[in-house]
Amino acid sequence: MTTNPTLTDLAARAQAARNRPTYGHDALITCDRLVRIFTTDGIEVQALQGLDLLVREGELMALVGASGSGKSTLMNILAGLDTPTAGAARVAGRDLLSMTAKDRLAYRRATVGFVWQQTSRNLLPYLTAAQNIALPMQLTGRGRRRRQSERALELLELLEVGDCRDRRPHQMSGGQQQRVAIAVALANDPAVLLADEPTGELDSHTAEQVFAAFRTANEQLGTTVVIVTHDQAVAGEVRRTVAIRDGRTSTEVLRRSEVDEVTGDETVVAREYAMLDRAGRLQLPAEYTEALGMRDRVALELEPDHIAIWPDDSEHE
Ligand SMILES: Nc1ncnc2c1ncn2[C@@H]1O[C@H](COP(=O)(O)OP(=O)(O)OP(=O)(O)O)[C@@H](O)[C@H]1O
Ligand SMILES: [Mg+2]
Repeated sequence: MTTNPTLTDLAARAQAARNRPTYGHDALITCDRLVRIFTTDGIEVQALQGLDLLVREGELMALVGASGSGKSTLMNILAGLDTPTAGAARVAGRDLLSMTAKDRLAYRRATVGFVWQQTSRNLLPYLTAAQNIALPMQLTGRGRRRRQSERALELLELLEVGDCRDRRPHQMSGGQQQRVAIAVALANDPAVLLADEPTGELDSHTAEQVFAAFRTANEQLGTTVVIVTHDQAVAGEVRRTVAIRDGRTSTEVLRRSEVDEVTGDETVVAREYAMLDRAGRLQLPAEYTEALGMRDRVALELEPDHIAIWPDDSEHE
């Protein structure tokens, strides 16, 4: 049996909601109604249409979504390579819309690290692995030469590519190049590591090794990691996967391990969530609405601990 909440209950809840701190105040990455419109030959493409996303410090999470859904557009903005048309974006306390050109350069060199899908885009071909990693430290004037090369070797060892230290990119496999690229991205100890399809050009076994390197960065160095991926295996290995659809975050899947009290067996339980924006808008997964034939309008009922959504049962001609 369920009882409907009283007006007093509802008023108390509304008050509690108003007292809640502002959106994203404790997040490392905050995107608030982010919009990016591209205009080519007078035709507008809305790549991001009011995207909301919060990422907490220390997270390792994946972004998934169909081709053209806006993933790379979002990554380019977070990387400081592109600026949004409207909305707000903050990373590690920096406001990505109001940064000066000088701040933006410093941001790209020290606050974020990025790894791209094309292995050739990540490393300079005429430098060895160790020299590629030392370069970002030289550009920011971080430490002395000796310390820079020590750090380069430490990072190579950590990501299990120590044997590549003196090799140039063409002398390494694709997977080794991507792990060296992660080391380059980590050189200046960034708050966030961003990767756009970093395993897209690799076979599944190699992709797994590269993904393991991201996990190592996250677990050993505490770096917050955001990976765009089409790879179901990668998406299934992180605690949180956020889906982007039509330039907005739609649903997310959270995974946690549960240990069976009797057998001691560990199982991973995944649960799907929908984003609720500040205006109360909710995007229901298409599979759900299609399964129940829901469209245009649904019936709602507020229950003490949930909201029930039913297919429209009103009479209509
Ligand atoms: N520089 C640009 N100029 C014009 N349109 C662009 C530009 N960059 C992206 N777009 C458009 O914005 C939309 C989102 O593109 P985006 O590259 O972010 O998608 P994506 O999710 O990364 O796709 P994929 O999985 O194929 O990499 C697409 O319609 C794309 O054509
Ligand atoms: Mg892309």
